[in-house]
Amino acid sequence: MCGIVGYIGHREAYPIIIKGLHRLEYRGYDSAGIALYDGEQINLSKTPGKVSDLENQSQVEISRSGTLGIGHTRWATHGEPNQRNAHPHFSNSGDLVIIHNGIIENYESIKTELTKRGYSFHSDTDTEVLVNLIEEVKKKEGVKLGKAVQIALNQVVGAFAIAVFDRSKPDEIVVAKLGSPLAIGIGEDEFFIASDATPFIEFTNNAVYLEDGEMAVVRPGKEIKLRKIADDAVAYPAIQELQLSLEAIEKGGYDHFMLKEIYEQPHAIKDTYRGRLRVEQGIVKMAGVDQNLERFLNANRIIIVACGTSWHAGLVAEYIFEDLARIPVEVEYASEFRYRNPVITDKDVVIAISQSGETADTLAAIKLAKEKGAFVFGICNVVGSSIARETHAGAYTHAGPEIGVASTKAFTTQITLLTLLALKLARESGTLSKTKFHEILTEMEGIPAKVERVLESNPLIEIIADVYKDAENCLYLGRGYNFPVALEGALKLKEISYIHAEGYPAAEMKHGPIALIDEQMPVIVIATKKGHYEKVVSNIQEIKSRKGKIIAVVTEGDSQVRDLADHVVEVPESSEALSPLLTTIPLQLLSYHIAVMRGCNVDQPRNLAKSVTVE
Ligand code: F6R
Repeated sequence: MCGIVGYIGHREAYPIIIKGLHRLEYRGYDSAGIALYDGEQINLSKTPGKVSDLENQSQVEISRSGTLGIGHTRWATHGEPNQRNAHPHFSNSGDLVIIHNGIIENYESIKTELTKRGYSFHSDTDTEVLVNLIEEVKKKEGVKLGKAVQIALNQVVGAFAIAVFDRSKPDEIVVAKLGSPLAIGIGEDEFFIASDATPFIEFTNNAVYLEDGEMAVVRPGKEIKLRKIADDAVAYPAIQELQLSLEAIEKGGYDHFMLKEIYEQPHAIKDTYRGRLRVEQGIVKMAGVDQNLERFLNANRIIIVACGTSWHAGLVAEYIFEDLARIPVEVEYASEFRYRNPVITDKDVVIAISQSGETADTLAAIKLAKEKGAFVFGICNVVGSSIARETHAGAYTHAGPEIGVASTKAFTTQITLLTLLALKLARESGTLSKTKFHEILTEMEGIPAKVERVLESNPLIEIIADVYKDAENCLYLGRGYNFPVALEGALKLKEISYIHAEGYPAAEMKHGPIALIDEQMPVIVIATKKGHYEKVVSNIQEIKSRKGKIIAVVTEGDSQVRDLADHVVEVPESSEALSPLLTTIPLQLLSYHIAVMRGCNVDQPRNLAKSVTVE
C-alpha cells in the first residue's frame, strides 16, 4: 500500500515522478504529493485525491524545476486521507523530507518523547514522527543523514520503505526497506527509486531490489552503497536486468486495465504453462517442484495460505489436489492462520499464493510456517517480490503486470499453475493414470482457445449487465470446482461496483440465503454440464419458483437450463477440473460492465489497493 517514487540525477525530476506515481497508483490513491529541490529550496505540493489531482494542483502551485525529488501516492493507515496527512513530510527544521510506505507501530511513544524535546507535529501520521526522529538523531549524534537514518530505524518497530533527502546536502537520497518493497533503478549518473520498477523502465533496465533490513545511500556519479540497517555490514547489490516492457504496463487501447487484463487471459494462461506443460513428452516440468519432489510426495498434507482472490484460487486447488493427487489440503486465510497457533509440522507443505508477492498477512504466515519446520512453496506473479524471496522454492505465474486493482488474470493463471502442480504430483505419486494425465494435459493446451471463445460473449454480457446494473444485491452459486468461482464472482462484483454480493455453494442456498430471493434478486448460477449438473438444475428450479432472476453460465448447447434461466452465457465444454478457467471469465466481464455502467472507477475502486502490505 502506498507507492513511492524518487529521482536524483541530471534530468528534470517532476515528469519522472508524476508519471511514476501514475504507474504506482494501483498501490493506493487516496492522496498524493511531491517534493522537488530546485537548487535553493524544496517545493512541496500535496493533495487529497488522485495523482491527476496532484498534477493539476502542482502545475499551478509550485515551481516544477529540479533534478532531485520524491513523490508519494497514499493508501491511508494513520490519519485521514487529507492534505495534511499526505506525503512527503518535512522535519521540523524544514531540511529533511521523507516519503514512506508502511507502518511505524511504536510511533506514539516516539512522538511523546520528541514532543518533550520540543518537536511539533502538523499531521496525524507515523511518517512525520519518523522524519523528526531522524532529524533528532542527526542533530544529537552529529552524524550524516545515512547514519541518522540507520540509528533511527533501529529504534522503530514496523514496516517501511522510505526515501529521504536533506536540503542542506542535496546530492544524495537515503533509502531503506523492511517489509515494504523498494527498487533502485541505476542509470548513467542518476538513480530512480520506486516501489516497483515500472516508474523507470523507459530509463534503465538495471535495478537493485533492496532486501529486508537493507538501506542505501544513492549519489549520482558514485556507485550504489548498500548496508544493513541492524549493523554496518556491507551488502553487495545484486543488479538485476529487468524484463518488463513498457507496453505491458500501458492500456494498449482498452478503456481500463481490468478489461485489458481480462482479454489477456488466453495469452497469460499460455505463458503460465509454457515450458512446463510438455504434452509430447507426457510430463509437467517445474524446477522448484522437481528439486523438492520428496518433500511434496512425503507431505502429510498441503496447507494453502493466501488472501482474497488468491485464496479463491487456493480453494479451487483444494479440489484438484484432493481429486487428482489424493493429498489432504487445507486452505487458510493467511490473516487467520498467522494468529491462531496452527498445528504445523515438518511433514507439511505450505503453498503461499500471492499475485503481488507483497501481501503482509501471507508473508507473515510464511514466516510462521517456516519457523515450525514446514516446507514453503510460493506461487507469485511479481518476479523478485518479497514472498518469492521468502519461500523455500516456488513458481511464477508469468501473467505479466496486473494493474487493475481487481484481480483477473492473476486468478486464472494461479489456477493454471496449481493444476499443473496437482497433475505433476498425481502422476509422480501414481494416483493418476498415464492416460488420464495425458488427457488433462492435452485439454489444458486447448484452454486458451476456449477462453477466447468465452470472450466472444462480451457483447451479450454487456446487455445482461445493463439489465442488472441497478441491483442492490446479488447471489452467486456454484458447486464443486465452481463453488470458489462463485465466491470470486461475488468478490469481483462487490469490489468494483459496490453492489452487495455473496457467493455460496449452490446446495447451501436452502440453509439460509434462499430467504433473500424475490423478483428483485439476480442469482448468477454456474451450471456447466460436468459436475453436479442435475443438482444445480434443481437449485435453479428452487430459485425460479421464488421468482428470482437467473443468469446462468452453461455449457455450449445446453437447453435444459436455457429453458429455466432469464439469461444464459455459454462456455465451451471442458472437464470439471478445468472448468473454472472458463466459467470465471463471464463473471469478470459482468462485474466489469456493471461497474462501468454505474460510473465506478473500475481500475481503482474506493478504499482498495493492489498490494496490501499492512495487516
Ligand atoms: C481482489 C483482489 C484481492 C487480492 C488480495 C491478495 O480482486 O485483488 O482480494 O487478491 O489482496 O493479493 P495478492 O494475491 O497480491 O496476495
